Amino acid sequence: MPIPENQQQALVSRLMSACGGAYSPETRRKYYITGPQWAGAYQGQALFHAPTRPEIGYADIIRHYGKIGIGYWCTHDTDVIPTEALAKDGQAEIVAGIKKALAENNVKFSMVTTETFHHAVWAGGPAAEAPEVREYAKFRVRNTVDIGHELGANFAVYWPGSLGYYVQGAIDELDSLRWYADALNAACDRDIETAAKYKRATLKHCLEAKPFEPQAEILLPTSDAMLAFIASGLLTHPEMVGLNPEYLHELMWGAAPRASLARALTAGKLFHFDINDGYRLKHDVDIGVGLVNPLDWLNVLVLLRSHGYNGPFNLDYKPPRTTSAFGVFEVSFPTAVDRFITLWEMAGEVLSDPIIKEATDALKAGGGAANPHDAEAVTKANRELLTLHELIAHRLVQILIGAHRGRVFSA
Ligand code: GLC
Ligand code: MN
Ligand code: MN
Repeated sequence: MPIPENQQQALVSRLMSACGGAYSPETRRKYYITGPQWAGAYQGQALFHAPTRPEIGYADIIRHYGKIGIGYWCTHDTDVIPTEALAKDGQAEIVAGIKKALAENNVKFSMVTTETFHHAVWAGGPAAEAPEVREYAKFRVRNTVDIGHELGANFAVYWPGSLGYYVQGAIDELDSLRWYADALNAACDRDIETAAKYKRATLKHCLEAKPFEPQAEILLPTSDAMLAFIASGLLTHPEMVGLNPEYLHELMWGAAPRASLARALTAGKLFHFDINDGYRLKHDVDIGVGLVNPLDWLNVLVLLRSHGYNGPFNLDYKPPRTTSAFGVFEVSFPTAVDRFITLWEMAGEVLSDPIIKEATDALKAGGGAANPHDAEAVTKANRELLTLHELIAHRLVQILIGAHRGRVFSA
């Protein structure tokens, strides 16, 4: 029996509530979950795909986020302000409209980011050879800092997506990196001034890496490359600059996201985190968190919980083009939020699990070899204990799928 079009939304809503396990908007608001303008506004388009959803503006997105219980909103400058209106009266009007929409829907502003990849002005990248492009880049990041303070942001993100090249040898990589640093330095300098004016703390400036796309070769392809860049001496305020790793961007190059995050935490640079999911060594599919790698995600959150990460979790994913405009806010966002919360709570369960705790403590205690300089004795002393690695992995899967509570399908 075909389902007529006018009954389809009701079907989707009925099956959504039948799924169960949803958190209330009040509960969702207790987590530092941020919703990007561009995620809600994504129309399903790509290089080979026409849009499947109509345009939607910031007022509607903020209203939907508020209703779902996504407590924070973030945006690129040009997601909401036309390029030609930047730093002009048009910008002031739009920023005032955003302030109003945020207040009316009890949503806060968390982060602002400069679009340095879409407009034709960035054809040669954000740190191109022509001094006027670089001056324009400085103008843009300074203006973004101003918008951030005006709306109460705590973070600024930079994805230098087009810092790279298609054909080799035309650019000098050292120049490009130095010029890119100049733009960040301009942003930090402006931030120090503007923060003083607003009597606010300076923003946390976060670099976001992606190993491929949109350039063929990327100058800062990984979070680790960015850590080296921050420490390179090119930045005048390296203490203000850290990372916004994206889960999938680390997975894309084949990394273990948990290890990438561990390196960022070790450096004290894990400021912000883009949450989504996808596949290794593929393009940036930006699938909703936990739909592909829930076990890895559980482990990532165990790591972040055990090391006290308290920054935002930014829903940087793209509702699939098969999802309707109705489905984006009825299914896509609430389920992404709820999977995240579920995995976060499970991570808490893992950290207090008596079996994992006893196994971990035992591994750390070691077998107590009498002579730690004797390889044979050390090996022997730990031989049985090391089986606990696999036992812990089993226990994590049990917690993830609820297998420790037993599961039966067919009698
Ligand atoms: C783009 C990227 C996204 C990044 C954002 C921030 O939308 O696709 O990954 O987080 O820019 O600048
Ligand atoms: Mn991202
Ligand atoms: Mn991505």
